[in-house]
Formats: sequence, C-alpha cells, structure tokens
Amino acid sequence: MSVVPSPGNGKITVPGILQRKSGFSSQDLSSSRSSLPAKITCLTAYDYPTARLLDEAGVDVLLVGDSLAMVELGYETTLPVTLEEMLHHTRAVRRGTRHALLVADMPYGTYHDDPMQAVRNAVRFVKEAGAEAVKVEGGERRIELITRLVEAEIPVMGHIGLTPQSVNAFGGFRVQGKTEEAGEQVLRDARAVEAAGAFSIVLESIPRELAAKITAEVRIPTIGIGAGPDCDGQILVTHDLLGLTFGHQPKFARRYADVGEIISRVAAEYCHDVQQGSFPSDEESFHMAAGHRAAAMSRSR
Ligand code: KIV
Repeated sequence: MSVVPSPGNGKITVPGILQRKSGFSSQDLSSSRSSLPAKITCLTAYDYPTARLLDEAGVDVLLVGDSLAMVELGYETTLPVTLEEMLHHTRAVRRGTRHALLVADMPYGTYHDDPMQAVRNAVRFVKEAGAEAVKVEGGERRIELITRLVEAEIPVMGHIGLTPQSVNAFGGFRVQGKTEEAGEQVLRDARAVEAAGAFSIVLESIPRELAAKITAEVRIPTIGIGAGPDCDGQILVTHDLLGLTFGHQPKFARRYADVGEIISRVAAEYCHDVQQGSFPSDEESFHMAAGHRAAAMSRSR
C-alpha cells in the first residue's frame, strides 16, 4: 500500500511536515488560527486495520509507538518491547498506510550505547519495515545520535519532557519541567534536538506555558501530548482515544469513544447466541446442491 512521495499525490512527507510549522511567536498572540498552517495530527498505530482506518480518516502522521508494549502487549512500561517486535508491527502498519508519514519508535536499548549500532538498528526500520522516520527519546544527550541518523538519511522525530523510557530514572510517569530550573532543562533539550537536525519534536507531559515557549522558539514543529494546545500538532495513543486501555487514564487523553464497551457487549451477545443455538442461522449456513441433498441424507441413515 505504500505510496512513493511525489508532488500532489497527497502523501505526507518530512518536508511537508516542516512546512506546517506555525511560525507562532509570543508577539503573535492576536493572529487568528485561520491564517496559520493546519495543525499536525498524529496518532499511534500498531496493526494493519487500525493503520488503514486512521490513514483513510486523514491523520497526518502514524507513529508505531513503543507504547505498543503497554497497550497491545500488556506490559507495565515501554521498556520490554524488542526491536524485532517493533519491526513486526511497523511492517503491518506500513501495509495499511498510504498517505500518512510513517514514524517508528526506537525501543529502549537499541540506541543507548554504540551510535553506529543505533544507526544500523534505525536502518532496519527503513529498509525492512518501510518506516519513513524514527523517533528517539532524550534531548541534549542525544545530539550525536540524532546527527548520525540524519547523516544516514534517516529523518528523526525527537521526544522530550516525560520520556517513558526514563521511567526508572524519573521514579514514575511524572509531569516534567514544572519548576523554572526543570523548565530550563527541557528548553535546552528542545534546542539540542533541533540543532542536531530533527524534523519535529514530541513534547510530552510538560506545562502548557513551557510548551508554548518552546513552540515559539524552535523552527521545527512541536507535537504535544499532555503539553497544552499551543503546539504545532498533537499526538495521542489511539487506544486511549478509543477507550481500549485499562486503569489510569491521564487527564490529557481525551476518550472519544468506548470501543472497549462495544467489544465486551458484542462478545457477550455472540456467546449467548452460540449457546442458545441462534448462531449460525440457516441463512448463515452453506447447503448442498439440489439433488445431492436427498441422496446424502438417505446414505447417512
Ligand atoms: O510510544 C508512544 O506512543 C509515544 C507517543 C505517546 C508520543 O511515544
């Protein structure tokens, strides 16, 4: 299903995403949204049918997030998911994606030691799974890595603020950048990711004011999740949006539907129908050709 980017075929590309930078600055508070580029819409996808539906609905960026570990595989953090698992799901999403830009998350441990091994791992996402960009977590400490990936022609989406792969270092999934000092660090991280050559940057769980400041300062688009409405785009975990997650729902994760309730109801109805003998019906059954039926029935007697 992949579509090679060419002008005018509706394919979302990295240069196209860069052009969607709002250019908003703190002096522009009066400018109306209608004169600004459309906000960038991003959602996570982990499988073929979801990718296909989200792509056909017009979502700009599909991220095969390492949140796969939590929402699809049932782990408590993103840390256990492997490179092979991420590649497997990225291939499925590739087959369902026509227009959206496909970004794959590099899982924990695949870019944390040898930078050249990290490049080789990222190349696998592009060559074997059809990703058009990769996402890596971390700011200042990822400058060398992002630079090398960009040199290898792999567009990079940065990710700062609450980086879930740092859950043990942070002592939990906590909002970041809440004090002046902590906010300064997040700002330095944003500048570092931009300077290293990333084409966009996810800002996760930071105060709205800080996200607005970063958005006004950097020249690459900011994609917020729990970072308020002033970013150049927004991303959510699709399972949160659909009501397919269990337990605590972060306050920024607006639930647009309760698909979980629909699945439970449909499964209970199906079990009831099978047990009552009302599924399958005669109309839902195949029949022997006329003439053969009577013969078959009489032979079996
Ligand atoms: O893994 C993921 O889904 C993410 C998004 C929440 C940004 O990193």
